[in-house]
Amino acid sequence: MSGKAQAGWASLGDMPKPKAEGHGLLFRNDQGTLWVGAENDHVLRVRFVPKASFGRDHSYALTSPRPRANAPSVQVGDSQSVIKVKDLSVTVSHKPLRLVFRDATGAVIDEDDAERGIAFTGTTTRVWKTLPDDAHVYGMGEKGGRLDKRGRNLGGTSYTMWNNDTFAYDSDTDPIYVSVPFFMVMRKARAHGVFLDNTFRSSFDVGHESQRLLSFGAEAGELNYYVIAGPHPKDVVARYTELTGRITLPPKWALGFHQSRWGYWPESRLRYVANAFREKKIPADVLWLDIDYQDGFKPFTWDKTRFADPPRMLKELGQQGFRVITIVDPHPPEQKGYSVFDQGVAGGHFVRNADGALFTGAVWPMRATPPRRSVYPDFTKPSVRQWWAGLYKPFLDMGVAGIWNDMNEPAVGDQPNGTMPFDVRHDNEGQPTDHREVHNVYGQQMSRSTFEGMRAAKPDLRPFVLTRASFAGGQRFSAVWTGDNQSDWSHLRGGIPMLLGMGLSGFAFVGNDVGGFVDSPTPTLFTRWAQAAVFFPFMRAHTTRRSLDQEPW
Ligand code: GLC
Repeated sequence: MSGKAQAGWASLGDMPKPKAEGHGLLFRNDQGTLWVGAENDHVLRVRFVPKASFGRDHSYALTSPRPRANAPSVQVGDSQSVIKVKDLSVTVSHKPLRLVFRDATGAVIDEDDAERGIAFTGTTTRVWKTLPDDAHVYGMGEKGGRLDKRGRNLGGTSYTMWNNDTFAYDSDTDPIYVSVPFFMVMRKARAHGVFLDNTFRSSFDVGHESQRLLSFGAEAGELNYYVIAGPHPKDVVARYTELTGRITLPPKWALGFHQSRWGYWPESRLRYVANAFREKKIPADVLWLDIDYQDGFKPFTWDKTRFADPPRMLKELGQQGFRVITIVDPHPPEQKGYSVFDQGVAGGHFVRNADGALFTGAVWPMRATPPRRSVYPDFTKPSVRQWWAGLYKPFLDMGVAGIWNDMNEPAVGDQPNGTMPFDVRHDNEGQPTDHREVHNVYGQQMSRSTFEGMRAAKPDLRPFVLTRASFAGGQRFSAVWTGDNQSDWSHLRGGIPMLLGMGLSGFAFVGNDVGGFVDSPTPTLFTRWAQAAVFFPFMRAHTTRRSLDQEPW
């Protein structure tokens, strides 16, 4: 039987008896292929494709190699099968195919909606699950609004995962820069987690379409999700980060106060700020240089009219107890004679359009004289990550302490979708694809390249990388700040649930622009923001070009 059609969706219908495969069961009918099984003692996994077989089993989010699991207990019956690991079990009804997950006590924690269950339309897959009235939902990474994703008075919310450059975003702007398709459900003081490991644009509906349903899915690829046992929220986070990795121990100075702004140039202005901190005895450990330190917005260069002798400056600031972090964006200008461009072209490191021509976009180098278009390294190709990683060494050798990766959603100014056209090609770690599939990991893989470059150049130092865009698992490579917020009380308030939600989603090293990026705070707002930010893991004051001075004094 084919499943019921609901507004173009076909729900999974009846499945013949499954075959054992790996640590689970494989089901196949004319609608597609489904595997359910054990990831480890606390995590079960589901894979579905509306096709006759799965593609490669590849993940940008999970750590590798994945630890070997104990074999689950598996019982196959005529109408249902049960797979059990230490902390969870799943009962699979065969006709129609529906899943019910239980915790170690036998209580149901996650249940397919009987009517819809797993469904698909074209390449899009989705699963609908019941959402009891007393269930609360947390996580989803970098999201605005309330900590409880169920929303006010159970009104429900929907969220999209698609990394997005959102200048001056507000509490209802969605999506913003980072995608973490993970959430935690709390009910009767017991928690479990769900992680959708799919890099395509995905969406999550928490009681919005229907108050009694939660659904999620992606526009292509596998419906590939993990159900993670609790019962405590900290168990869920620990097990989720066992799968996707944890932050590496940051350098101690990175926990101090960071002072940044777009516009610390020339050197005399930066030195004035450094001296003022010391004269006023305001603690600060790190100073940041935004795009204007570069020559013509070229990554890995210095504008020598603004910063005549960077190694000397870095040394002298070091003697005052300051580390310096420089921005490095992913869009070098298309400029013959500039070594990064020349090497990238010779090595085939930049992404290309479907017709094979270099893809170029308009970003900061368009503000250089003469204006230049930009090219983009393909960070989904291991050899490109390695090449880019090596470019950091001269900067680190001259004394730069950390790297700030920005605009890596990637942001592309002259494209109608604000990013690369969907048909731009990427290597995708050896399985070439178009931008739709890897958009959400472009920033994560850039931060990975940066992290690996720092580790290779300075094996005795702990890397510090800050990124704006990332994806689940990106916490292994970098800290995250929440982009272009506003100097407004609502952003001081809204930043708190946003950062807490990120912490619940594995991104432990996070902060926002203290004082707000867009516009200028009143002295009181800046003071209150700094007081709150003492409790943010990453504490950096930052503001836009031409805003008022935004140092603590
Ligand atoms: C982006 C960043 C911001 C930075 C600016 C210039 O807007 O989010 O932090 O100052 O670019 O590099």
